Amino acid sequence: MGIAIRKAKRINDLPPYLFAEIDRRKRAALARGVDLIDLGIGDPDIPTPSNVVEKLIECSSKPANHRYPNSLGMPEFRQAVADWYQRRFNVRLDAGTEVVSLIGSKEGIGNMAVAFVDPGDVVLVASPCYPVYHIGTAFNGGQNYFLPLKKETHFLPDLDSIPADIAKQAKLLWINYPNNPTAAVADKDFFQRVIAFADRHGVIVCHDGAYTEMGYDGYRPMSFLEVDGAREVGIEFHSLSKTFNMTGWRIGMAVGNAEVIGGLAQAKSNLDSGIFQAVQEAGIEALKLGDQIVEPSRKIYQERRDILVDGLRAVGLQCEKPKATFYVWVSAPKGLTSAEFTAKLLDEAGVVTTPGNGFGEAGEGYVRFTVCVDKERLKEVAERIRQVKF
Ligand SMILES: Cc1ncc(COP(=O)(O)O)c(C=O)c1O
Repeated sequence: MGIAIRKAKRINDLPPYLFAEIDRRKRAALARGVDLIDLGIGDPDIPTPSNVVEKLIECSSKPANHRYPNSLGMPEFRQAVADWYQRRFNVRLDAGTEVVSLIGSKEGIGNMAVAFVDPGDVVLVASPCYPVYHIGTAFNGGQNYFLPLKKETHFLPDLDSIPADIAKQAKLLWINYPNNPTAAVADKDFFQRVIAFADRHGVIVCHDGAYTEMGYDGYRPMSFLEVDGAREVGIEFHSLSKTFNMTGWRIGMAVGNAEVIGGLAQAKSNLDSGIFQAVQEAGIEALKLGDQIVEPSRKIYQERRDILVDGLRAVGLQCEKPKATFYVWVSAPKGLTSAEFTAKLLDEAGVVTTPGNGFGEAGEGYVRFTVCVDKERLKEVAERIRQVKF
């Protein structure tokens, strides 16, 4: 007895999982009793602030919160998002039409393609990038056109390099600044060029602003929506995950163009039933506290960034000091691929990192480090790497 289990083509067509080899080496090292320093994951180690946790505890006992939530978000949560955008970016949003809640921004990013991509449609995506942008396209039968992010162009895509026929067919353009994995930042001039491109070719811009609150040395990254014309062509994804140390809570939002938000909301309301309302109430608390939560985290990450970057440079590795995000994008030493460099760091120094090509072909030659461990451990990283022969 037994039936032949056949997965959908979209699953069978997934690209090979480039992190599998690292996972295997990591497990082997742990089995040998190696004391690994894991700089592979972008997940805050700082706990969620106690006021937010207490709000969840209080609100979880309300019977009204035990029922189905609305998939688009409680009006109070959407208003809290609008108020936060007004305070933080001076961007005015209509909470009823220009804001939708997400079960973490990953959910909304994936559902964007459900709402807007038909088979054969072209989606413009950076390489390297957060993989969900192009997986969403592929799952829905679209074609990804990758825009390489190069050091020479400050890891910004060259929109002028897009062939006219591709630009004509393009439905969505994904951008993400401050950027994962390169830690690059964008300014108003770049966003203006994006808006002009989108307007010229009728492309919907999806800006992922997950890291706007992680800026250092006084730098405060801008929202795409601060720029004139942005709301006419696109939306911004944001998240409480990295901002308020809430990755496990699964709460985020998309804001901007009402028609685009409406389309995403239509896809969502047919597929999910929203975020537990007590989590939304805790999210409101986090948004209200805003910088009171973010500033202490910023200080911690900035100090860690300095320790890591100074340490890596001292042992001869090449990297920029990032202005934002908790990532450091490090060039592999001459003669080593991303995978070889990552494997050497793991096997010979017990330091876990992520190979740049795991985020797209154009990430080859780089390795991504995070600063999600405490400063004492980070000090040890360079000491360990010093022992490795490149
Ligand atoms: C650029 C970027 N966008 C979105 C996400 C997803 O965040 P979440 O689903 O927790 O909101 C991540 C997570 O690593 C990310 O790096």
